[in-house]
Amino acid sequence: MTADLFSLQGRTALVTGARRGIGAAIAAGYAAAGAELILMARDAALDDTLEAIKQNGGGEATVVIADFADPAAVEAAASELAKTRRIDILVNNAGTIRRAPAAETTTADWQHVIDVNLNSTWAVTRPVGAAMVERGAGAVVTIASLLSFQGGITVPAYTASKHAVAGLTRALANEWGPAGVRVNAIAPGYISTDNTTDLRADPGREAAIRDRIPAGRWGQPEDVVGAAVFLASAAAGYVNGHVLAVDGGWLAR
Ligand SMILES: NC(=O)c1ccc[n+]([C@@H]2O[C@H](COP(=O)([O-])OP(=O)(O)OC[C@H]3O[C@@H](n4cnc5c(N)ncnc54)[C@H](OP(=O)(O)O)[C@@H]3O)[C@@H](O)[C@H]2O)c1
Repeated sequence: MTADLFSLQGRTALVTGARRGIGAAIAAGYAAAGAELILMARDAALDDTLEAIKQNGGGEATVVIADFADPAAVEAAASELAKTRRIDILVNNAGTIRRAPAAETTTADWQHVIDVNLNSTWAVTRPVGAAMVERGAGAVVTIASLLSFQGGITVPAYTASKHAVAGLTRALANEWGPAGVRVNAIAPGYISTDNTTDLRADPGREAAIRDRIPAGRWGQPEDVVGAAVFLASAAAGYVNGHVLAVDGGWLAR
């Protein structure tokens, strides 16, 4: 049956940064598709996500605490997890943004964004991916961005980090593909989450962004779920090294 192609029944998925926004929507969507969830977050206040998982038919999710501003701590937590649990699907979603012109961006802000978005993505993916390679199966889905393709406006560290995760996606797809591990990314368009609050609060920017989106609206976190299920599922069995835009047509413009 075609629906079976998209089932995540019997799979365990690790989703990072699932307390809110896109990660929370993906965790709930994965539960609805039958997956067991492991959530990695910087604090344990995950009640809303845990409730959404249950509402979508999921069981008790495991919670692992790690601050992505500290890649060494993230690597230690991910390595321990990879030893003790079989992780079939990894969603690298945790991410942050700092908006300031390049000349005013501090090195501390640069480092923070690179640590959370890139170095900690690496810190999770290396041990979890290595265990997938050993087992000969797995799917990694990293949340990239339109700024994996474009320069953006006054978000230099974010753009650099998102270009880098797209490159890492392709590098790992090449290396791990022969072992049966697929590595893909999603490039969400402009999605209505806390990440874009400042843009939506600026009437000029908000209208300029909306006017450029062929779909005529901002995306919602739920708009990303179908792509995330697809890339993790058997339906995408021959999809590897791809960065899939879910952007209402922004990049086609
Ligand atoms: N919204 C968009 O338009 C858009 C577009 C393209 C790509 N993205 C990407 O999508 C992903 C999710 O973002 P979102 O839009 O859903 O934004 P969000 O609502 O701000 O969610 C960000 C998530 O990342 C977690 N996170 C941030 N810093 C962390 C840290 N130091 N340690 C652990 N977790 C941390 C947050 O945890 P806490 O709740 O604990 O802070 C939260 O769960 C990010 O990678 C973002 O770059 C978003």
